[in-house]
Amino acid sequence: MAALERLFQEAYRPVDQRKRVGSYILGRILGQGRSSYVRKAVDTRNEQQVAIKAIAKMAGRKGRQLERQCLQEVKTLLDLRHENIVTLREVVETDHFLYVVMELIQGRTLRSLLKDKFFLSESEARSVVQRVTGAVHYLHSKDIVHRDLKPENVMLSDPNGQVKVIDLGLSGSMAGGELGGQCGSPVYMAPELLRGQPHGPPVDMWSLGVVLHELVTGHVPFCPERGRRSSRNYSVAAVYSTIVKTACRDVSQGLCLSSNGAAFLRELLRLEANQRMTSPQAITHDWLTS
Ligand SMILES: Nc1ncnc2c1ncn2[C@@H]1O[C@H](COP(=O)(O)OP(=O)(O)O)[C@@H](O)[C@H]1O
Ligand SMILES: [Mg+2]
Repeated sequence: MAALERLFQEAYRPVDQRKRVGSYILGRILGQGRSSYVRKAVDTRNEQQVAIKAIAKMAGRKGRQLERQCLQEVKTLLDLRHENIVTLREVVETDHFLYVVMELIQGRTLRSLLKDKFFLSESEARSVVQRVTGAVHYLHSKDIVHRDLKPENVMLSDPNGQVKVIDLGLSGSMAGGELGGQCGSPVYMAPELLRGQPHGPPVDMWSLGVVLHELVTGHVPFCPERGRRSSRNYSVAAVYSTIVKTACRDVSQGLCLSSNGAAFLRELLRLEANQRMTSPQAITHDWLTS
């Protein structure tokens, strides 16, 4: 990561010395994820602003893994057109970096909103969840599983409050059957994913449930340390044992949710993947349509 860190320290150089990538001039950092920095940039061909995610090509296993994730994101995004999913413009490859050029979302992540507001009202949460569910339903209809839904990967754009799902770096295609491997942030991971079992679209529905719980309470439902915010990196084993311990408890009880909202949450947080609400069921659920 050192090379990448150094590159992105060069924040405010004179315009003529600014870092260029293809026809883009890189600007300030918009956000930092698990494996990349995302910068604002301007396309010199038309002066349009874009967001560019830079992934360092590194040697070794970790490098190959990051490069695979980046190419996965590109492959997935190339075929997608949905108002609630970030749009890909192009990919620029240099000797040392892969740059994913995307539409610029002027706004903030759901994580940043939660940091300020702590939690949302039911109707605010419903409006966000409705749009994320629409995006997830679209992905599932294309046999794509996002696998990393969490507040860091949902953006709210100003000024119209448009919701956009970002970061398809861990997404997987169901075209070749169920998915394997273990990925994502443990507190948002479905039980089957935590167990390292083959999995599919239901893992996104679980994450959606965790996000909904967090939106209306300010904390995730299966947190190894009670009352803690979700940003801590808990181990897979710790989160799994919390889920097992809470298995017989109704997580929707005591929350500020209508009966429809509580039912929606319970249907998402079903332990058994095959009993969990599917995305077609979710978009027609009374809570989202009434
Ligand atoms: N298209 C975009 N427009 C504006 N900001 C973005 C965009 N994509 C990502 N970001 C910002 O960069 C952060 C990291 O991006 P992300 O794609 O989640 O990277 P990672 O795969 O490293 O987690 C996001 O949390 C967000 O703050
Ligand atoms: Mg991310």
